[in-house]
Amino acid sequence: MMNFHILTLFPDMVIQGLHTSIIGRAVQNGYLNIEAVNIRDYTLDKHKKVDDYPYGGGAGMLMQAQPVYDAYKAVEQRMTSKKPPRVIYVTPQGRVFQQQMARELAKEDDLIFLCGHYEGIDERVLEEIVTDYVSIGDYVLTGGELPAMVMIDAISRMVPGVLSNEESGETESFAGNLLEYPQYSRPENWHGKCVPEVLLSGNHANIAKWRLEMAIERTKERRPDLYTAYEEQVRQEEERIEREKAEARRLRRLARSNTESAPDC
Ligand code: ADE
Repeated sequence: MMNFHILTLFPDMVIQGLHTSIIGRAVQNGYLNIEAVNIRDYTLDKHKKVDDYPYGGGAGMLMQAQPVYDAYKAVEQRMTSKKPPRVIYVTPQGRVFQQQMARELAKEDDLIFLCGHYEGIDERVLEEIVTDYVSIGDYVLTGGELPAMVMIDAISRMVPGVLSNEESGETESFAGNLLEYPQYSRPENWHGKCVPEVLLSGNHANIAKWRLEMAIERTKERRPDLYTAYEEQVRQEEERIEREKAEARRLRRLARSNTESAPDC
């Protein structure tokens, strides 16, 4: 069971988005718990204000430290697990989120996401509570809610039970640095385009071989950066196999020379 806590000024947005489809089903079935905490509920300002001008001037407003900190403290006190939680501040100034990070974060019991708005958040509260600065890519959005939802979706599908067995077949695409092969469903002929012959052959070895070739082709063409990583991965794997063979040969030689030199008695 994974507990997500999202600190945000727009709780409806994240709750709506994350209670549909596969993630919604996982919440219903008790594999995930997702709560959105409205930072505005924690402001001590009598007009419910949560932002102010930046010292030193400049464009826009900043979220103030106090409501963010108090919202965080309220979540921390409610948490069941004893260990200090990872607090992820979603920001274009963070490490870029990737599948490997989704896999790692899925092992936690609790994750807190802090969503900024306006021009950002007072640096002092970030220093006190944030453990990870994470971006979803090199572009700027108007707030942290969409990035938090993207990450929560990707992390959730790595949590055991969230995907059915059938769905988790797709889980490891990217693990091998290859894109998915193309897929086809009925009818066999659509707009004059026929499904590749091999897929109708029933020969599973040939189908697997074809799919790997297509995945390689597609990766080379669409993501040359990933393809380079794939080549490197294959090279390392081949090296490892060669080392193991050499070691086995060495051990066999050693065993043979031991029996040869043993005194006959
Ligand atoms: N907030 C605004 N833009 C963002 C991005 N690209 N990643 C994470 N958080 C953001």
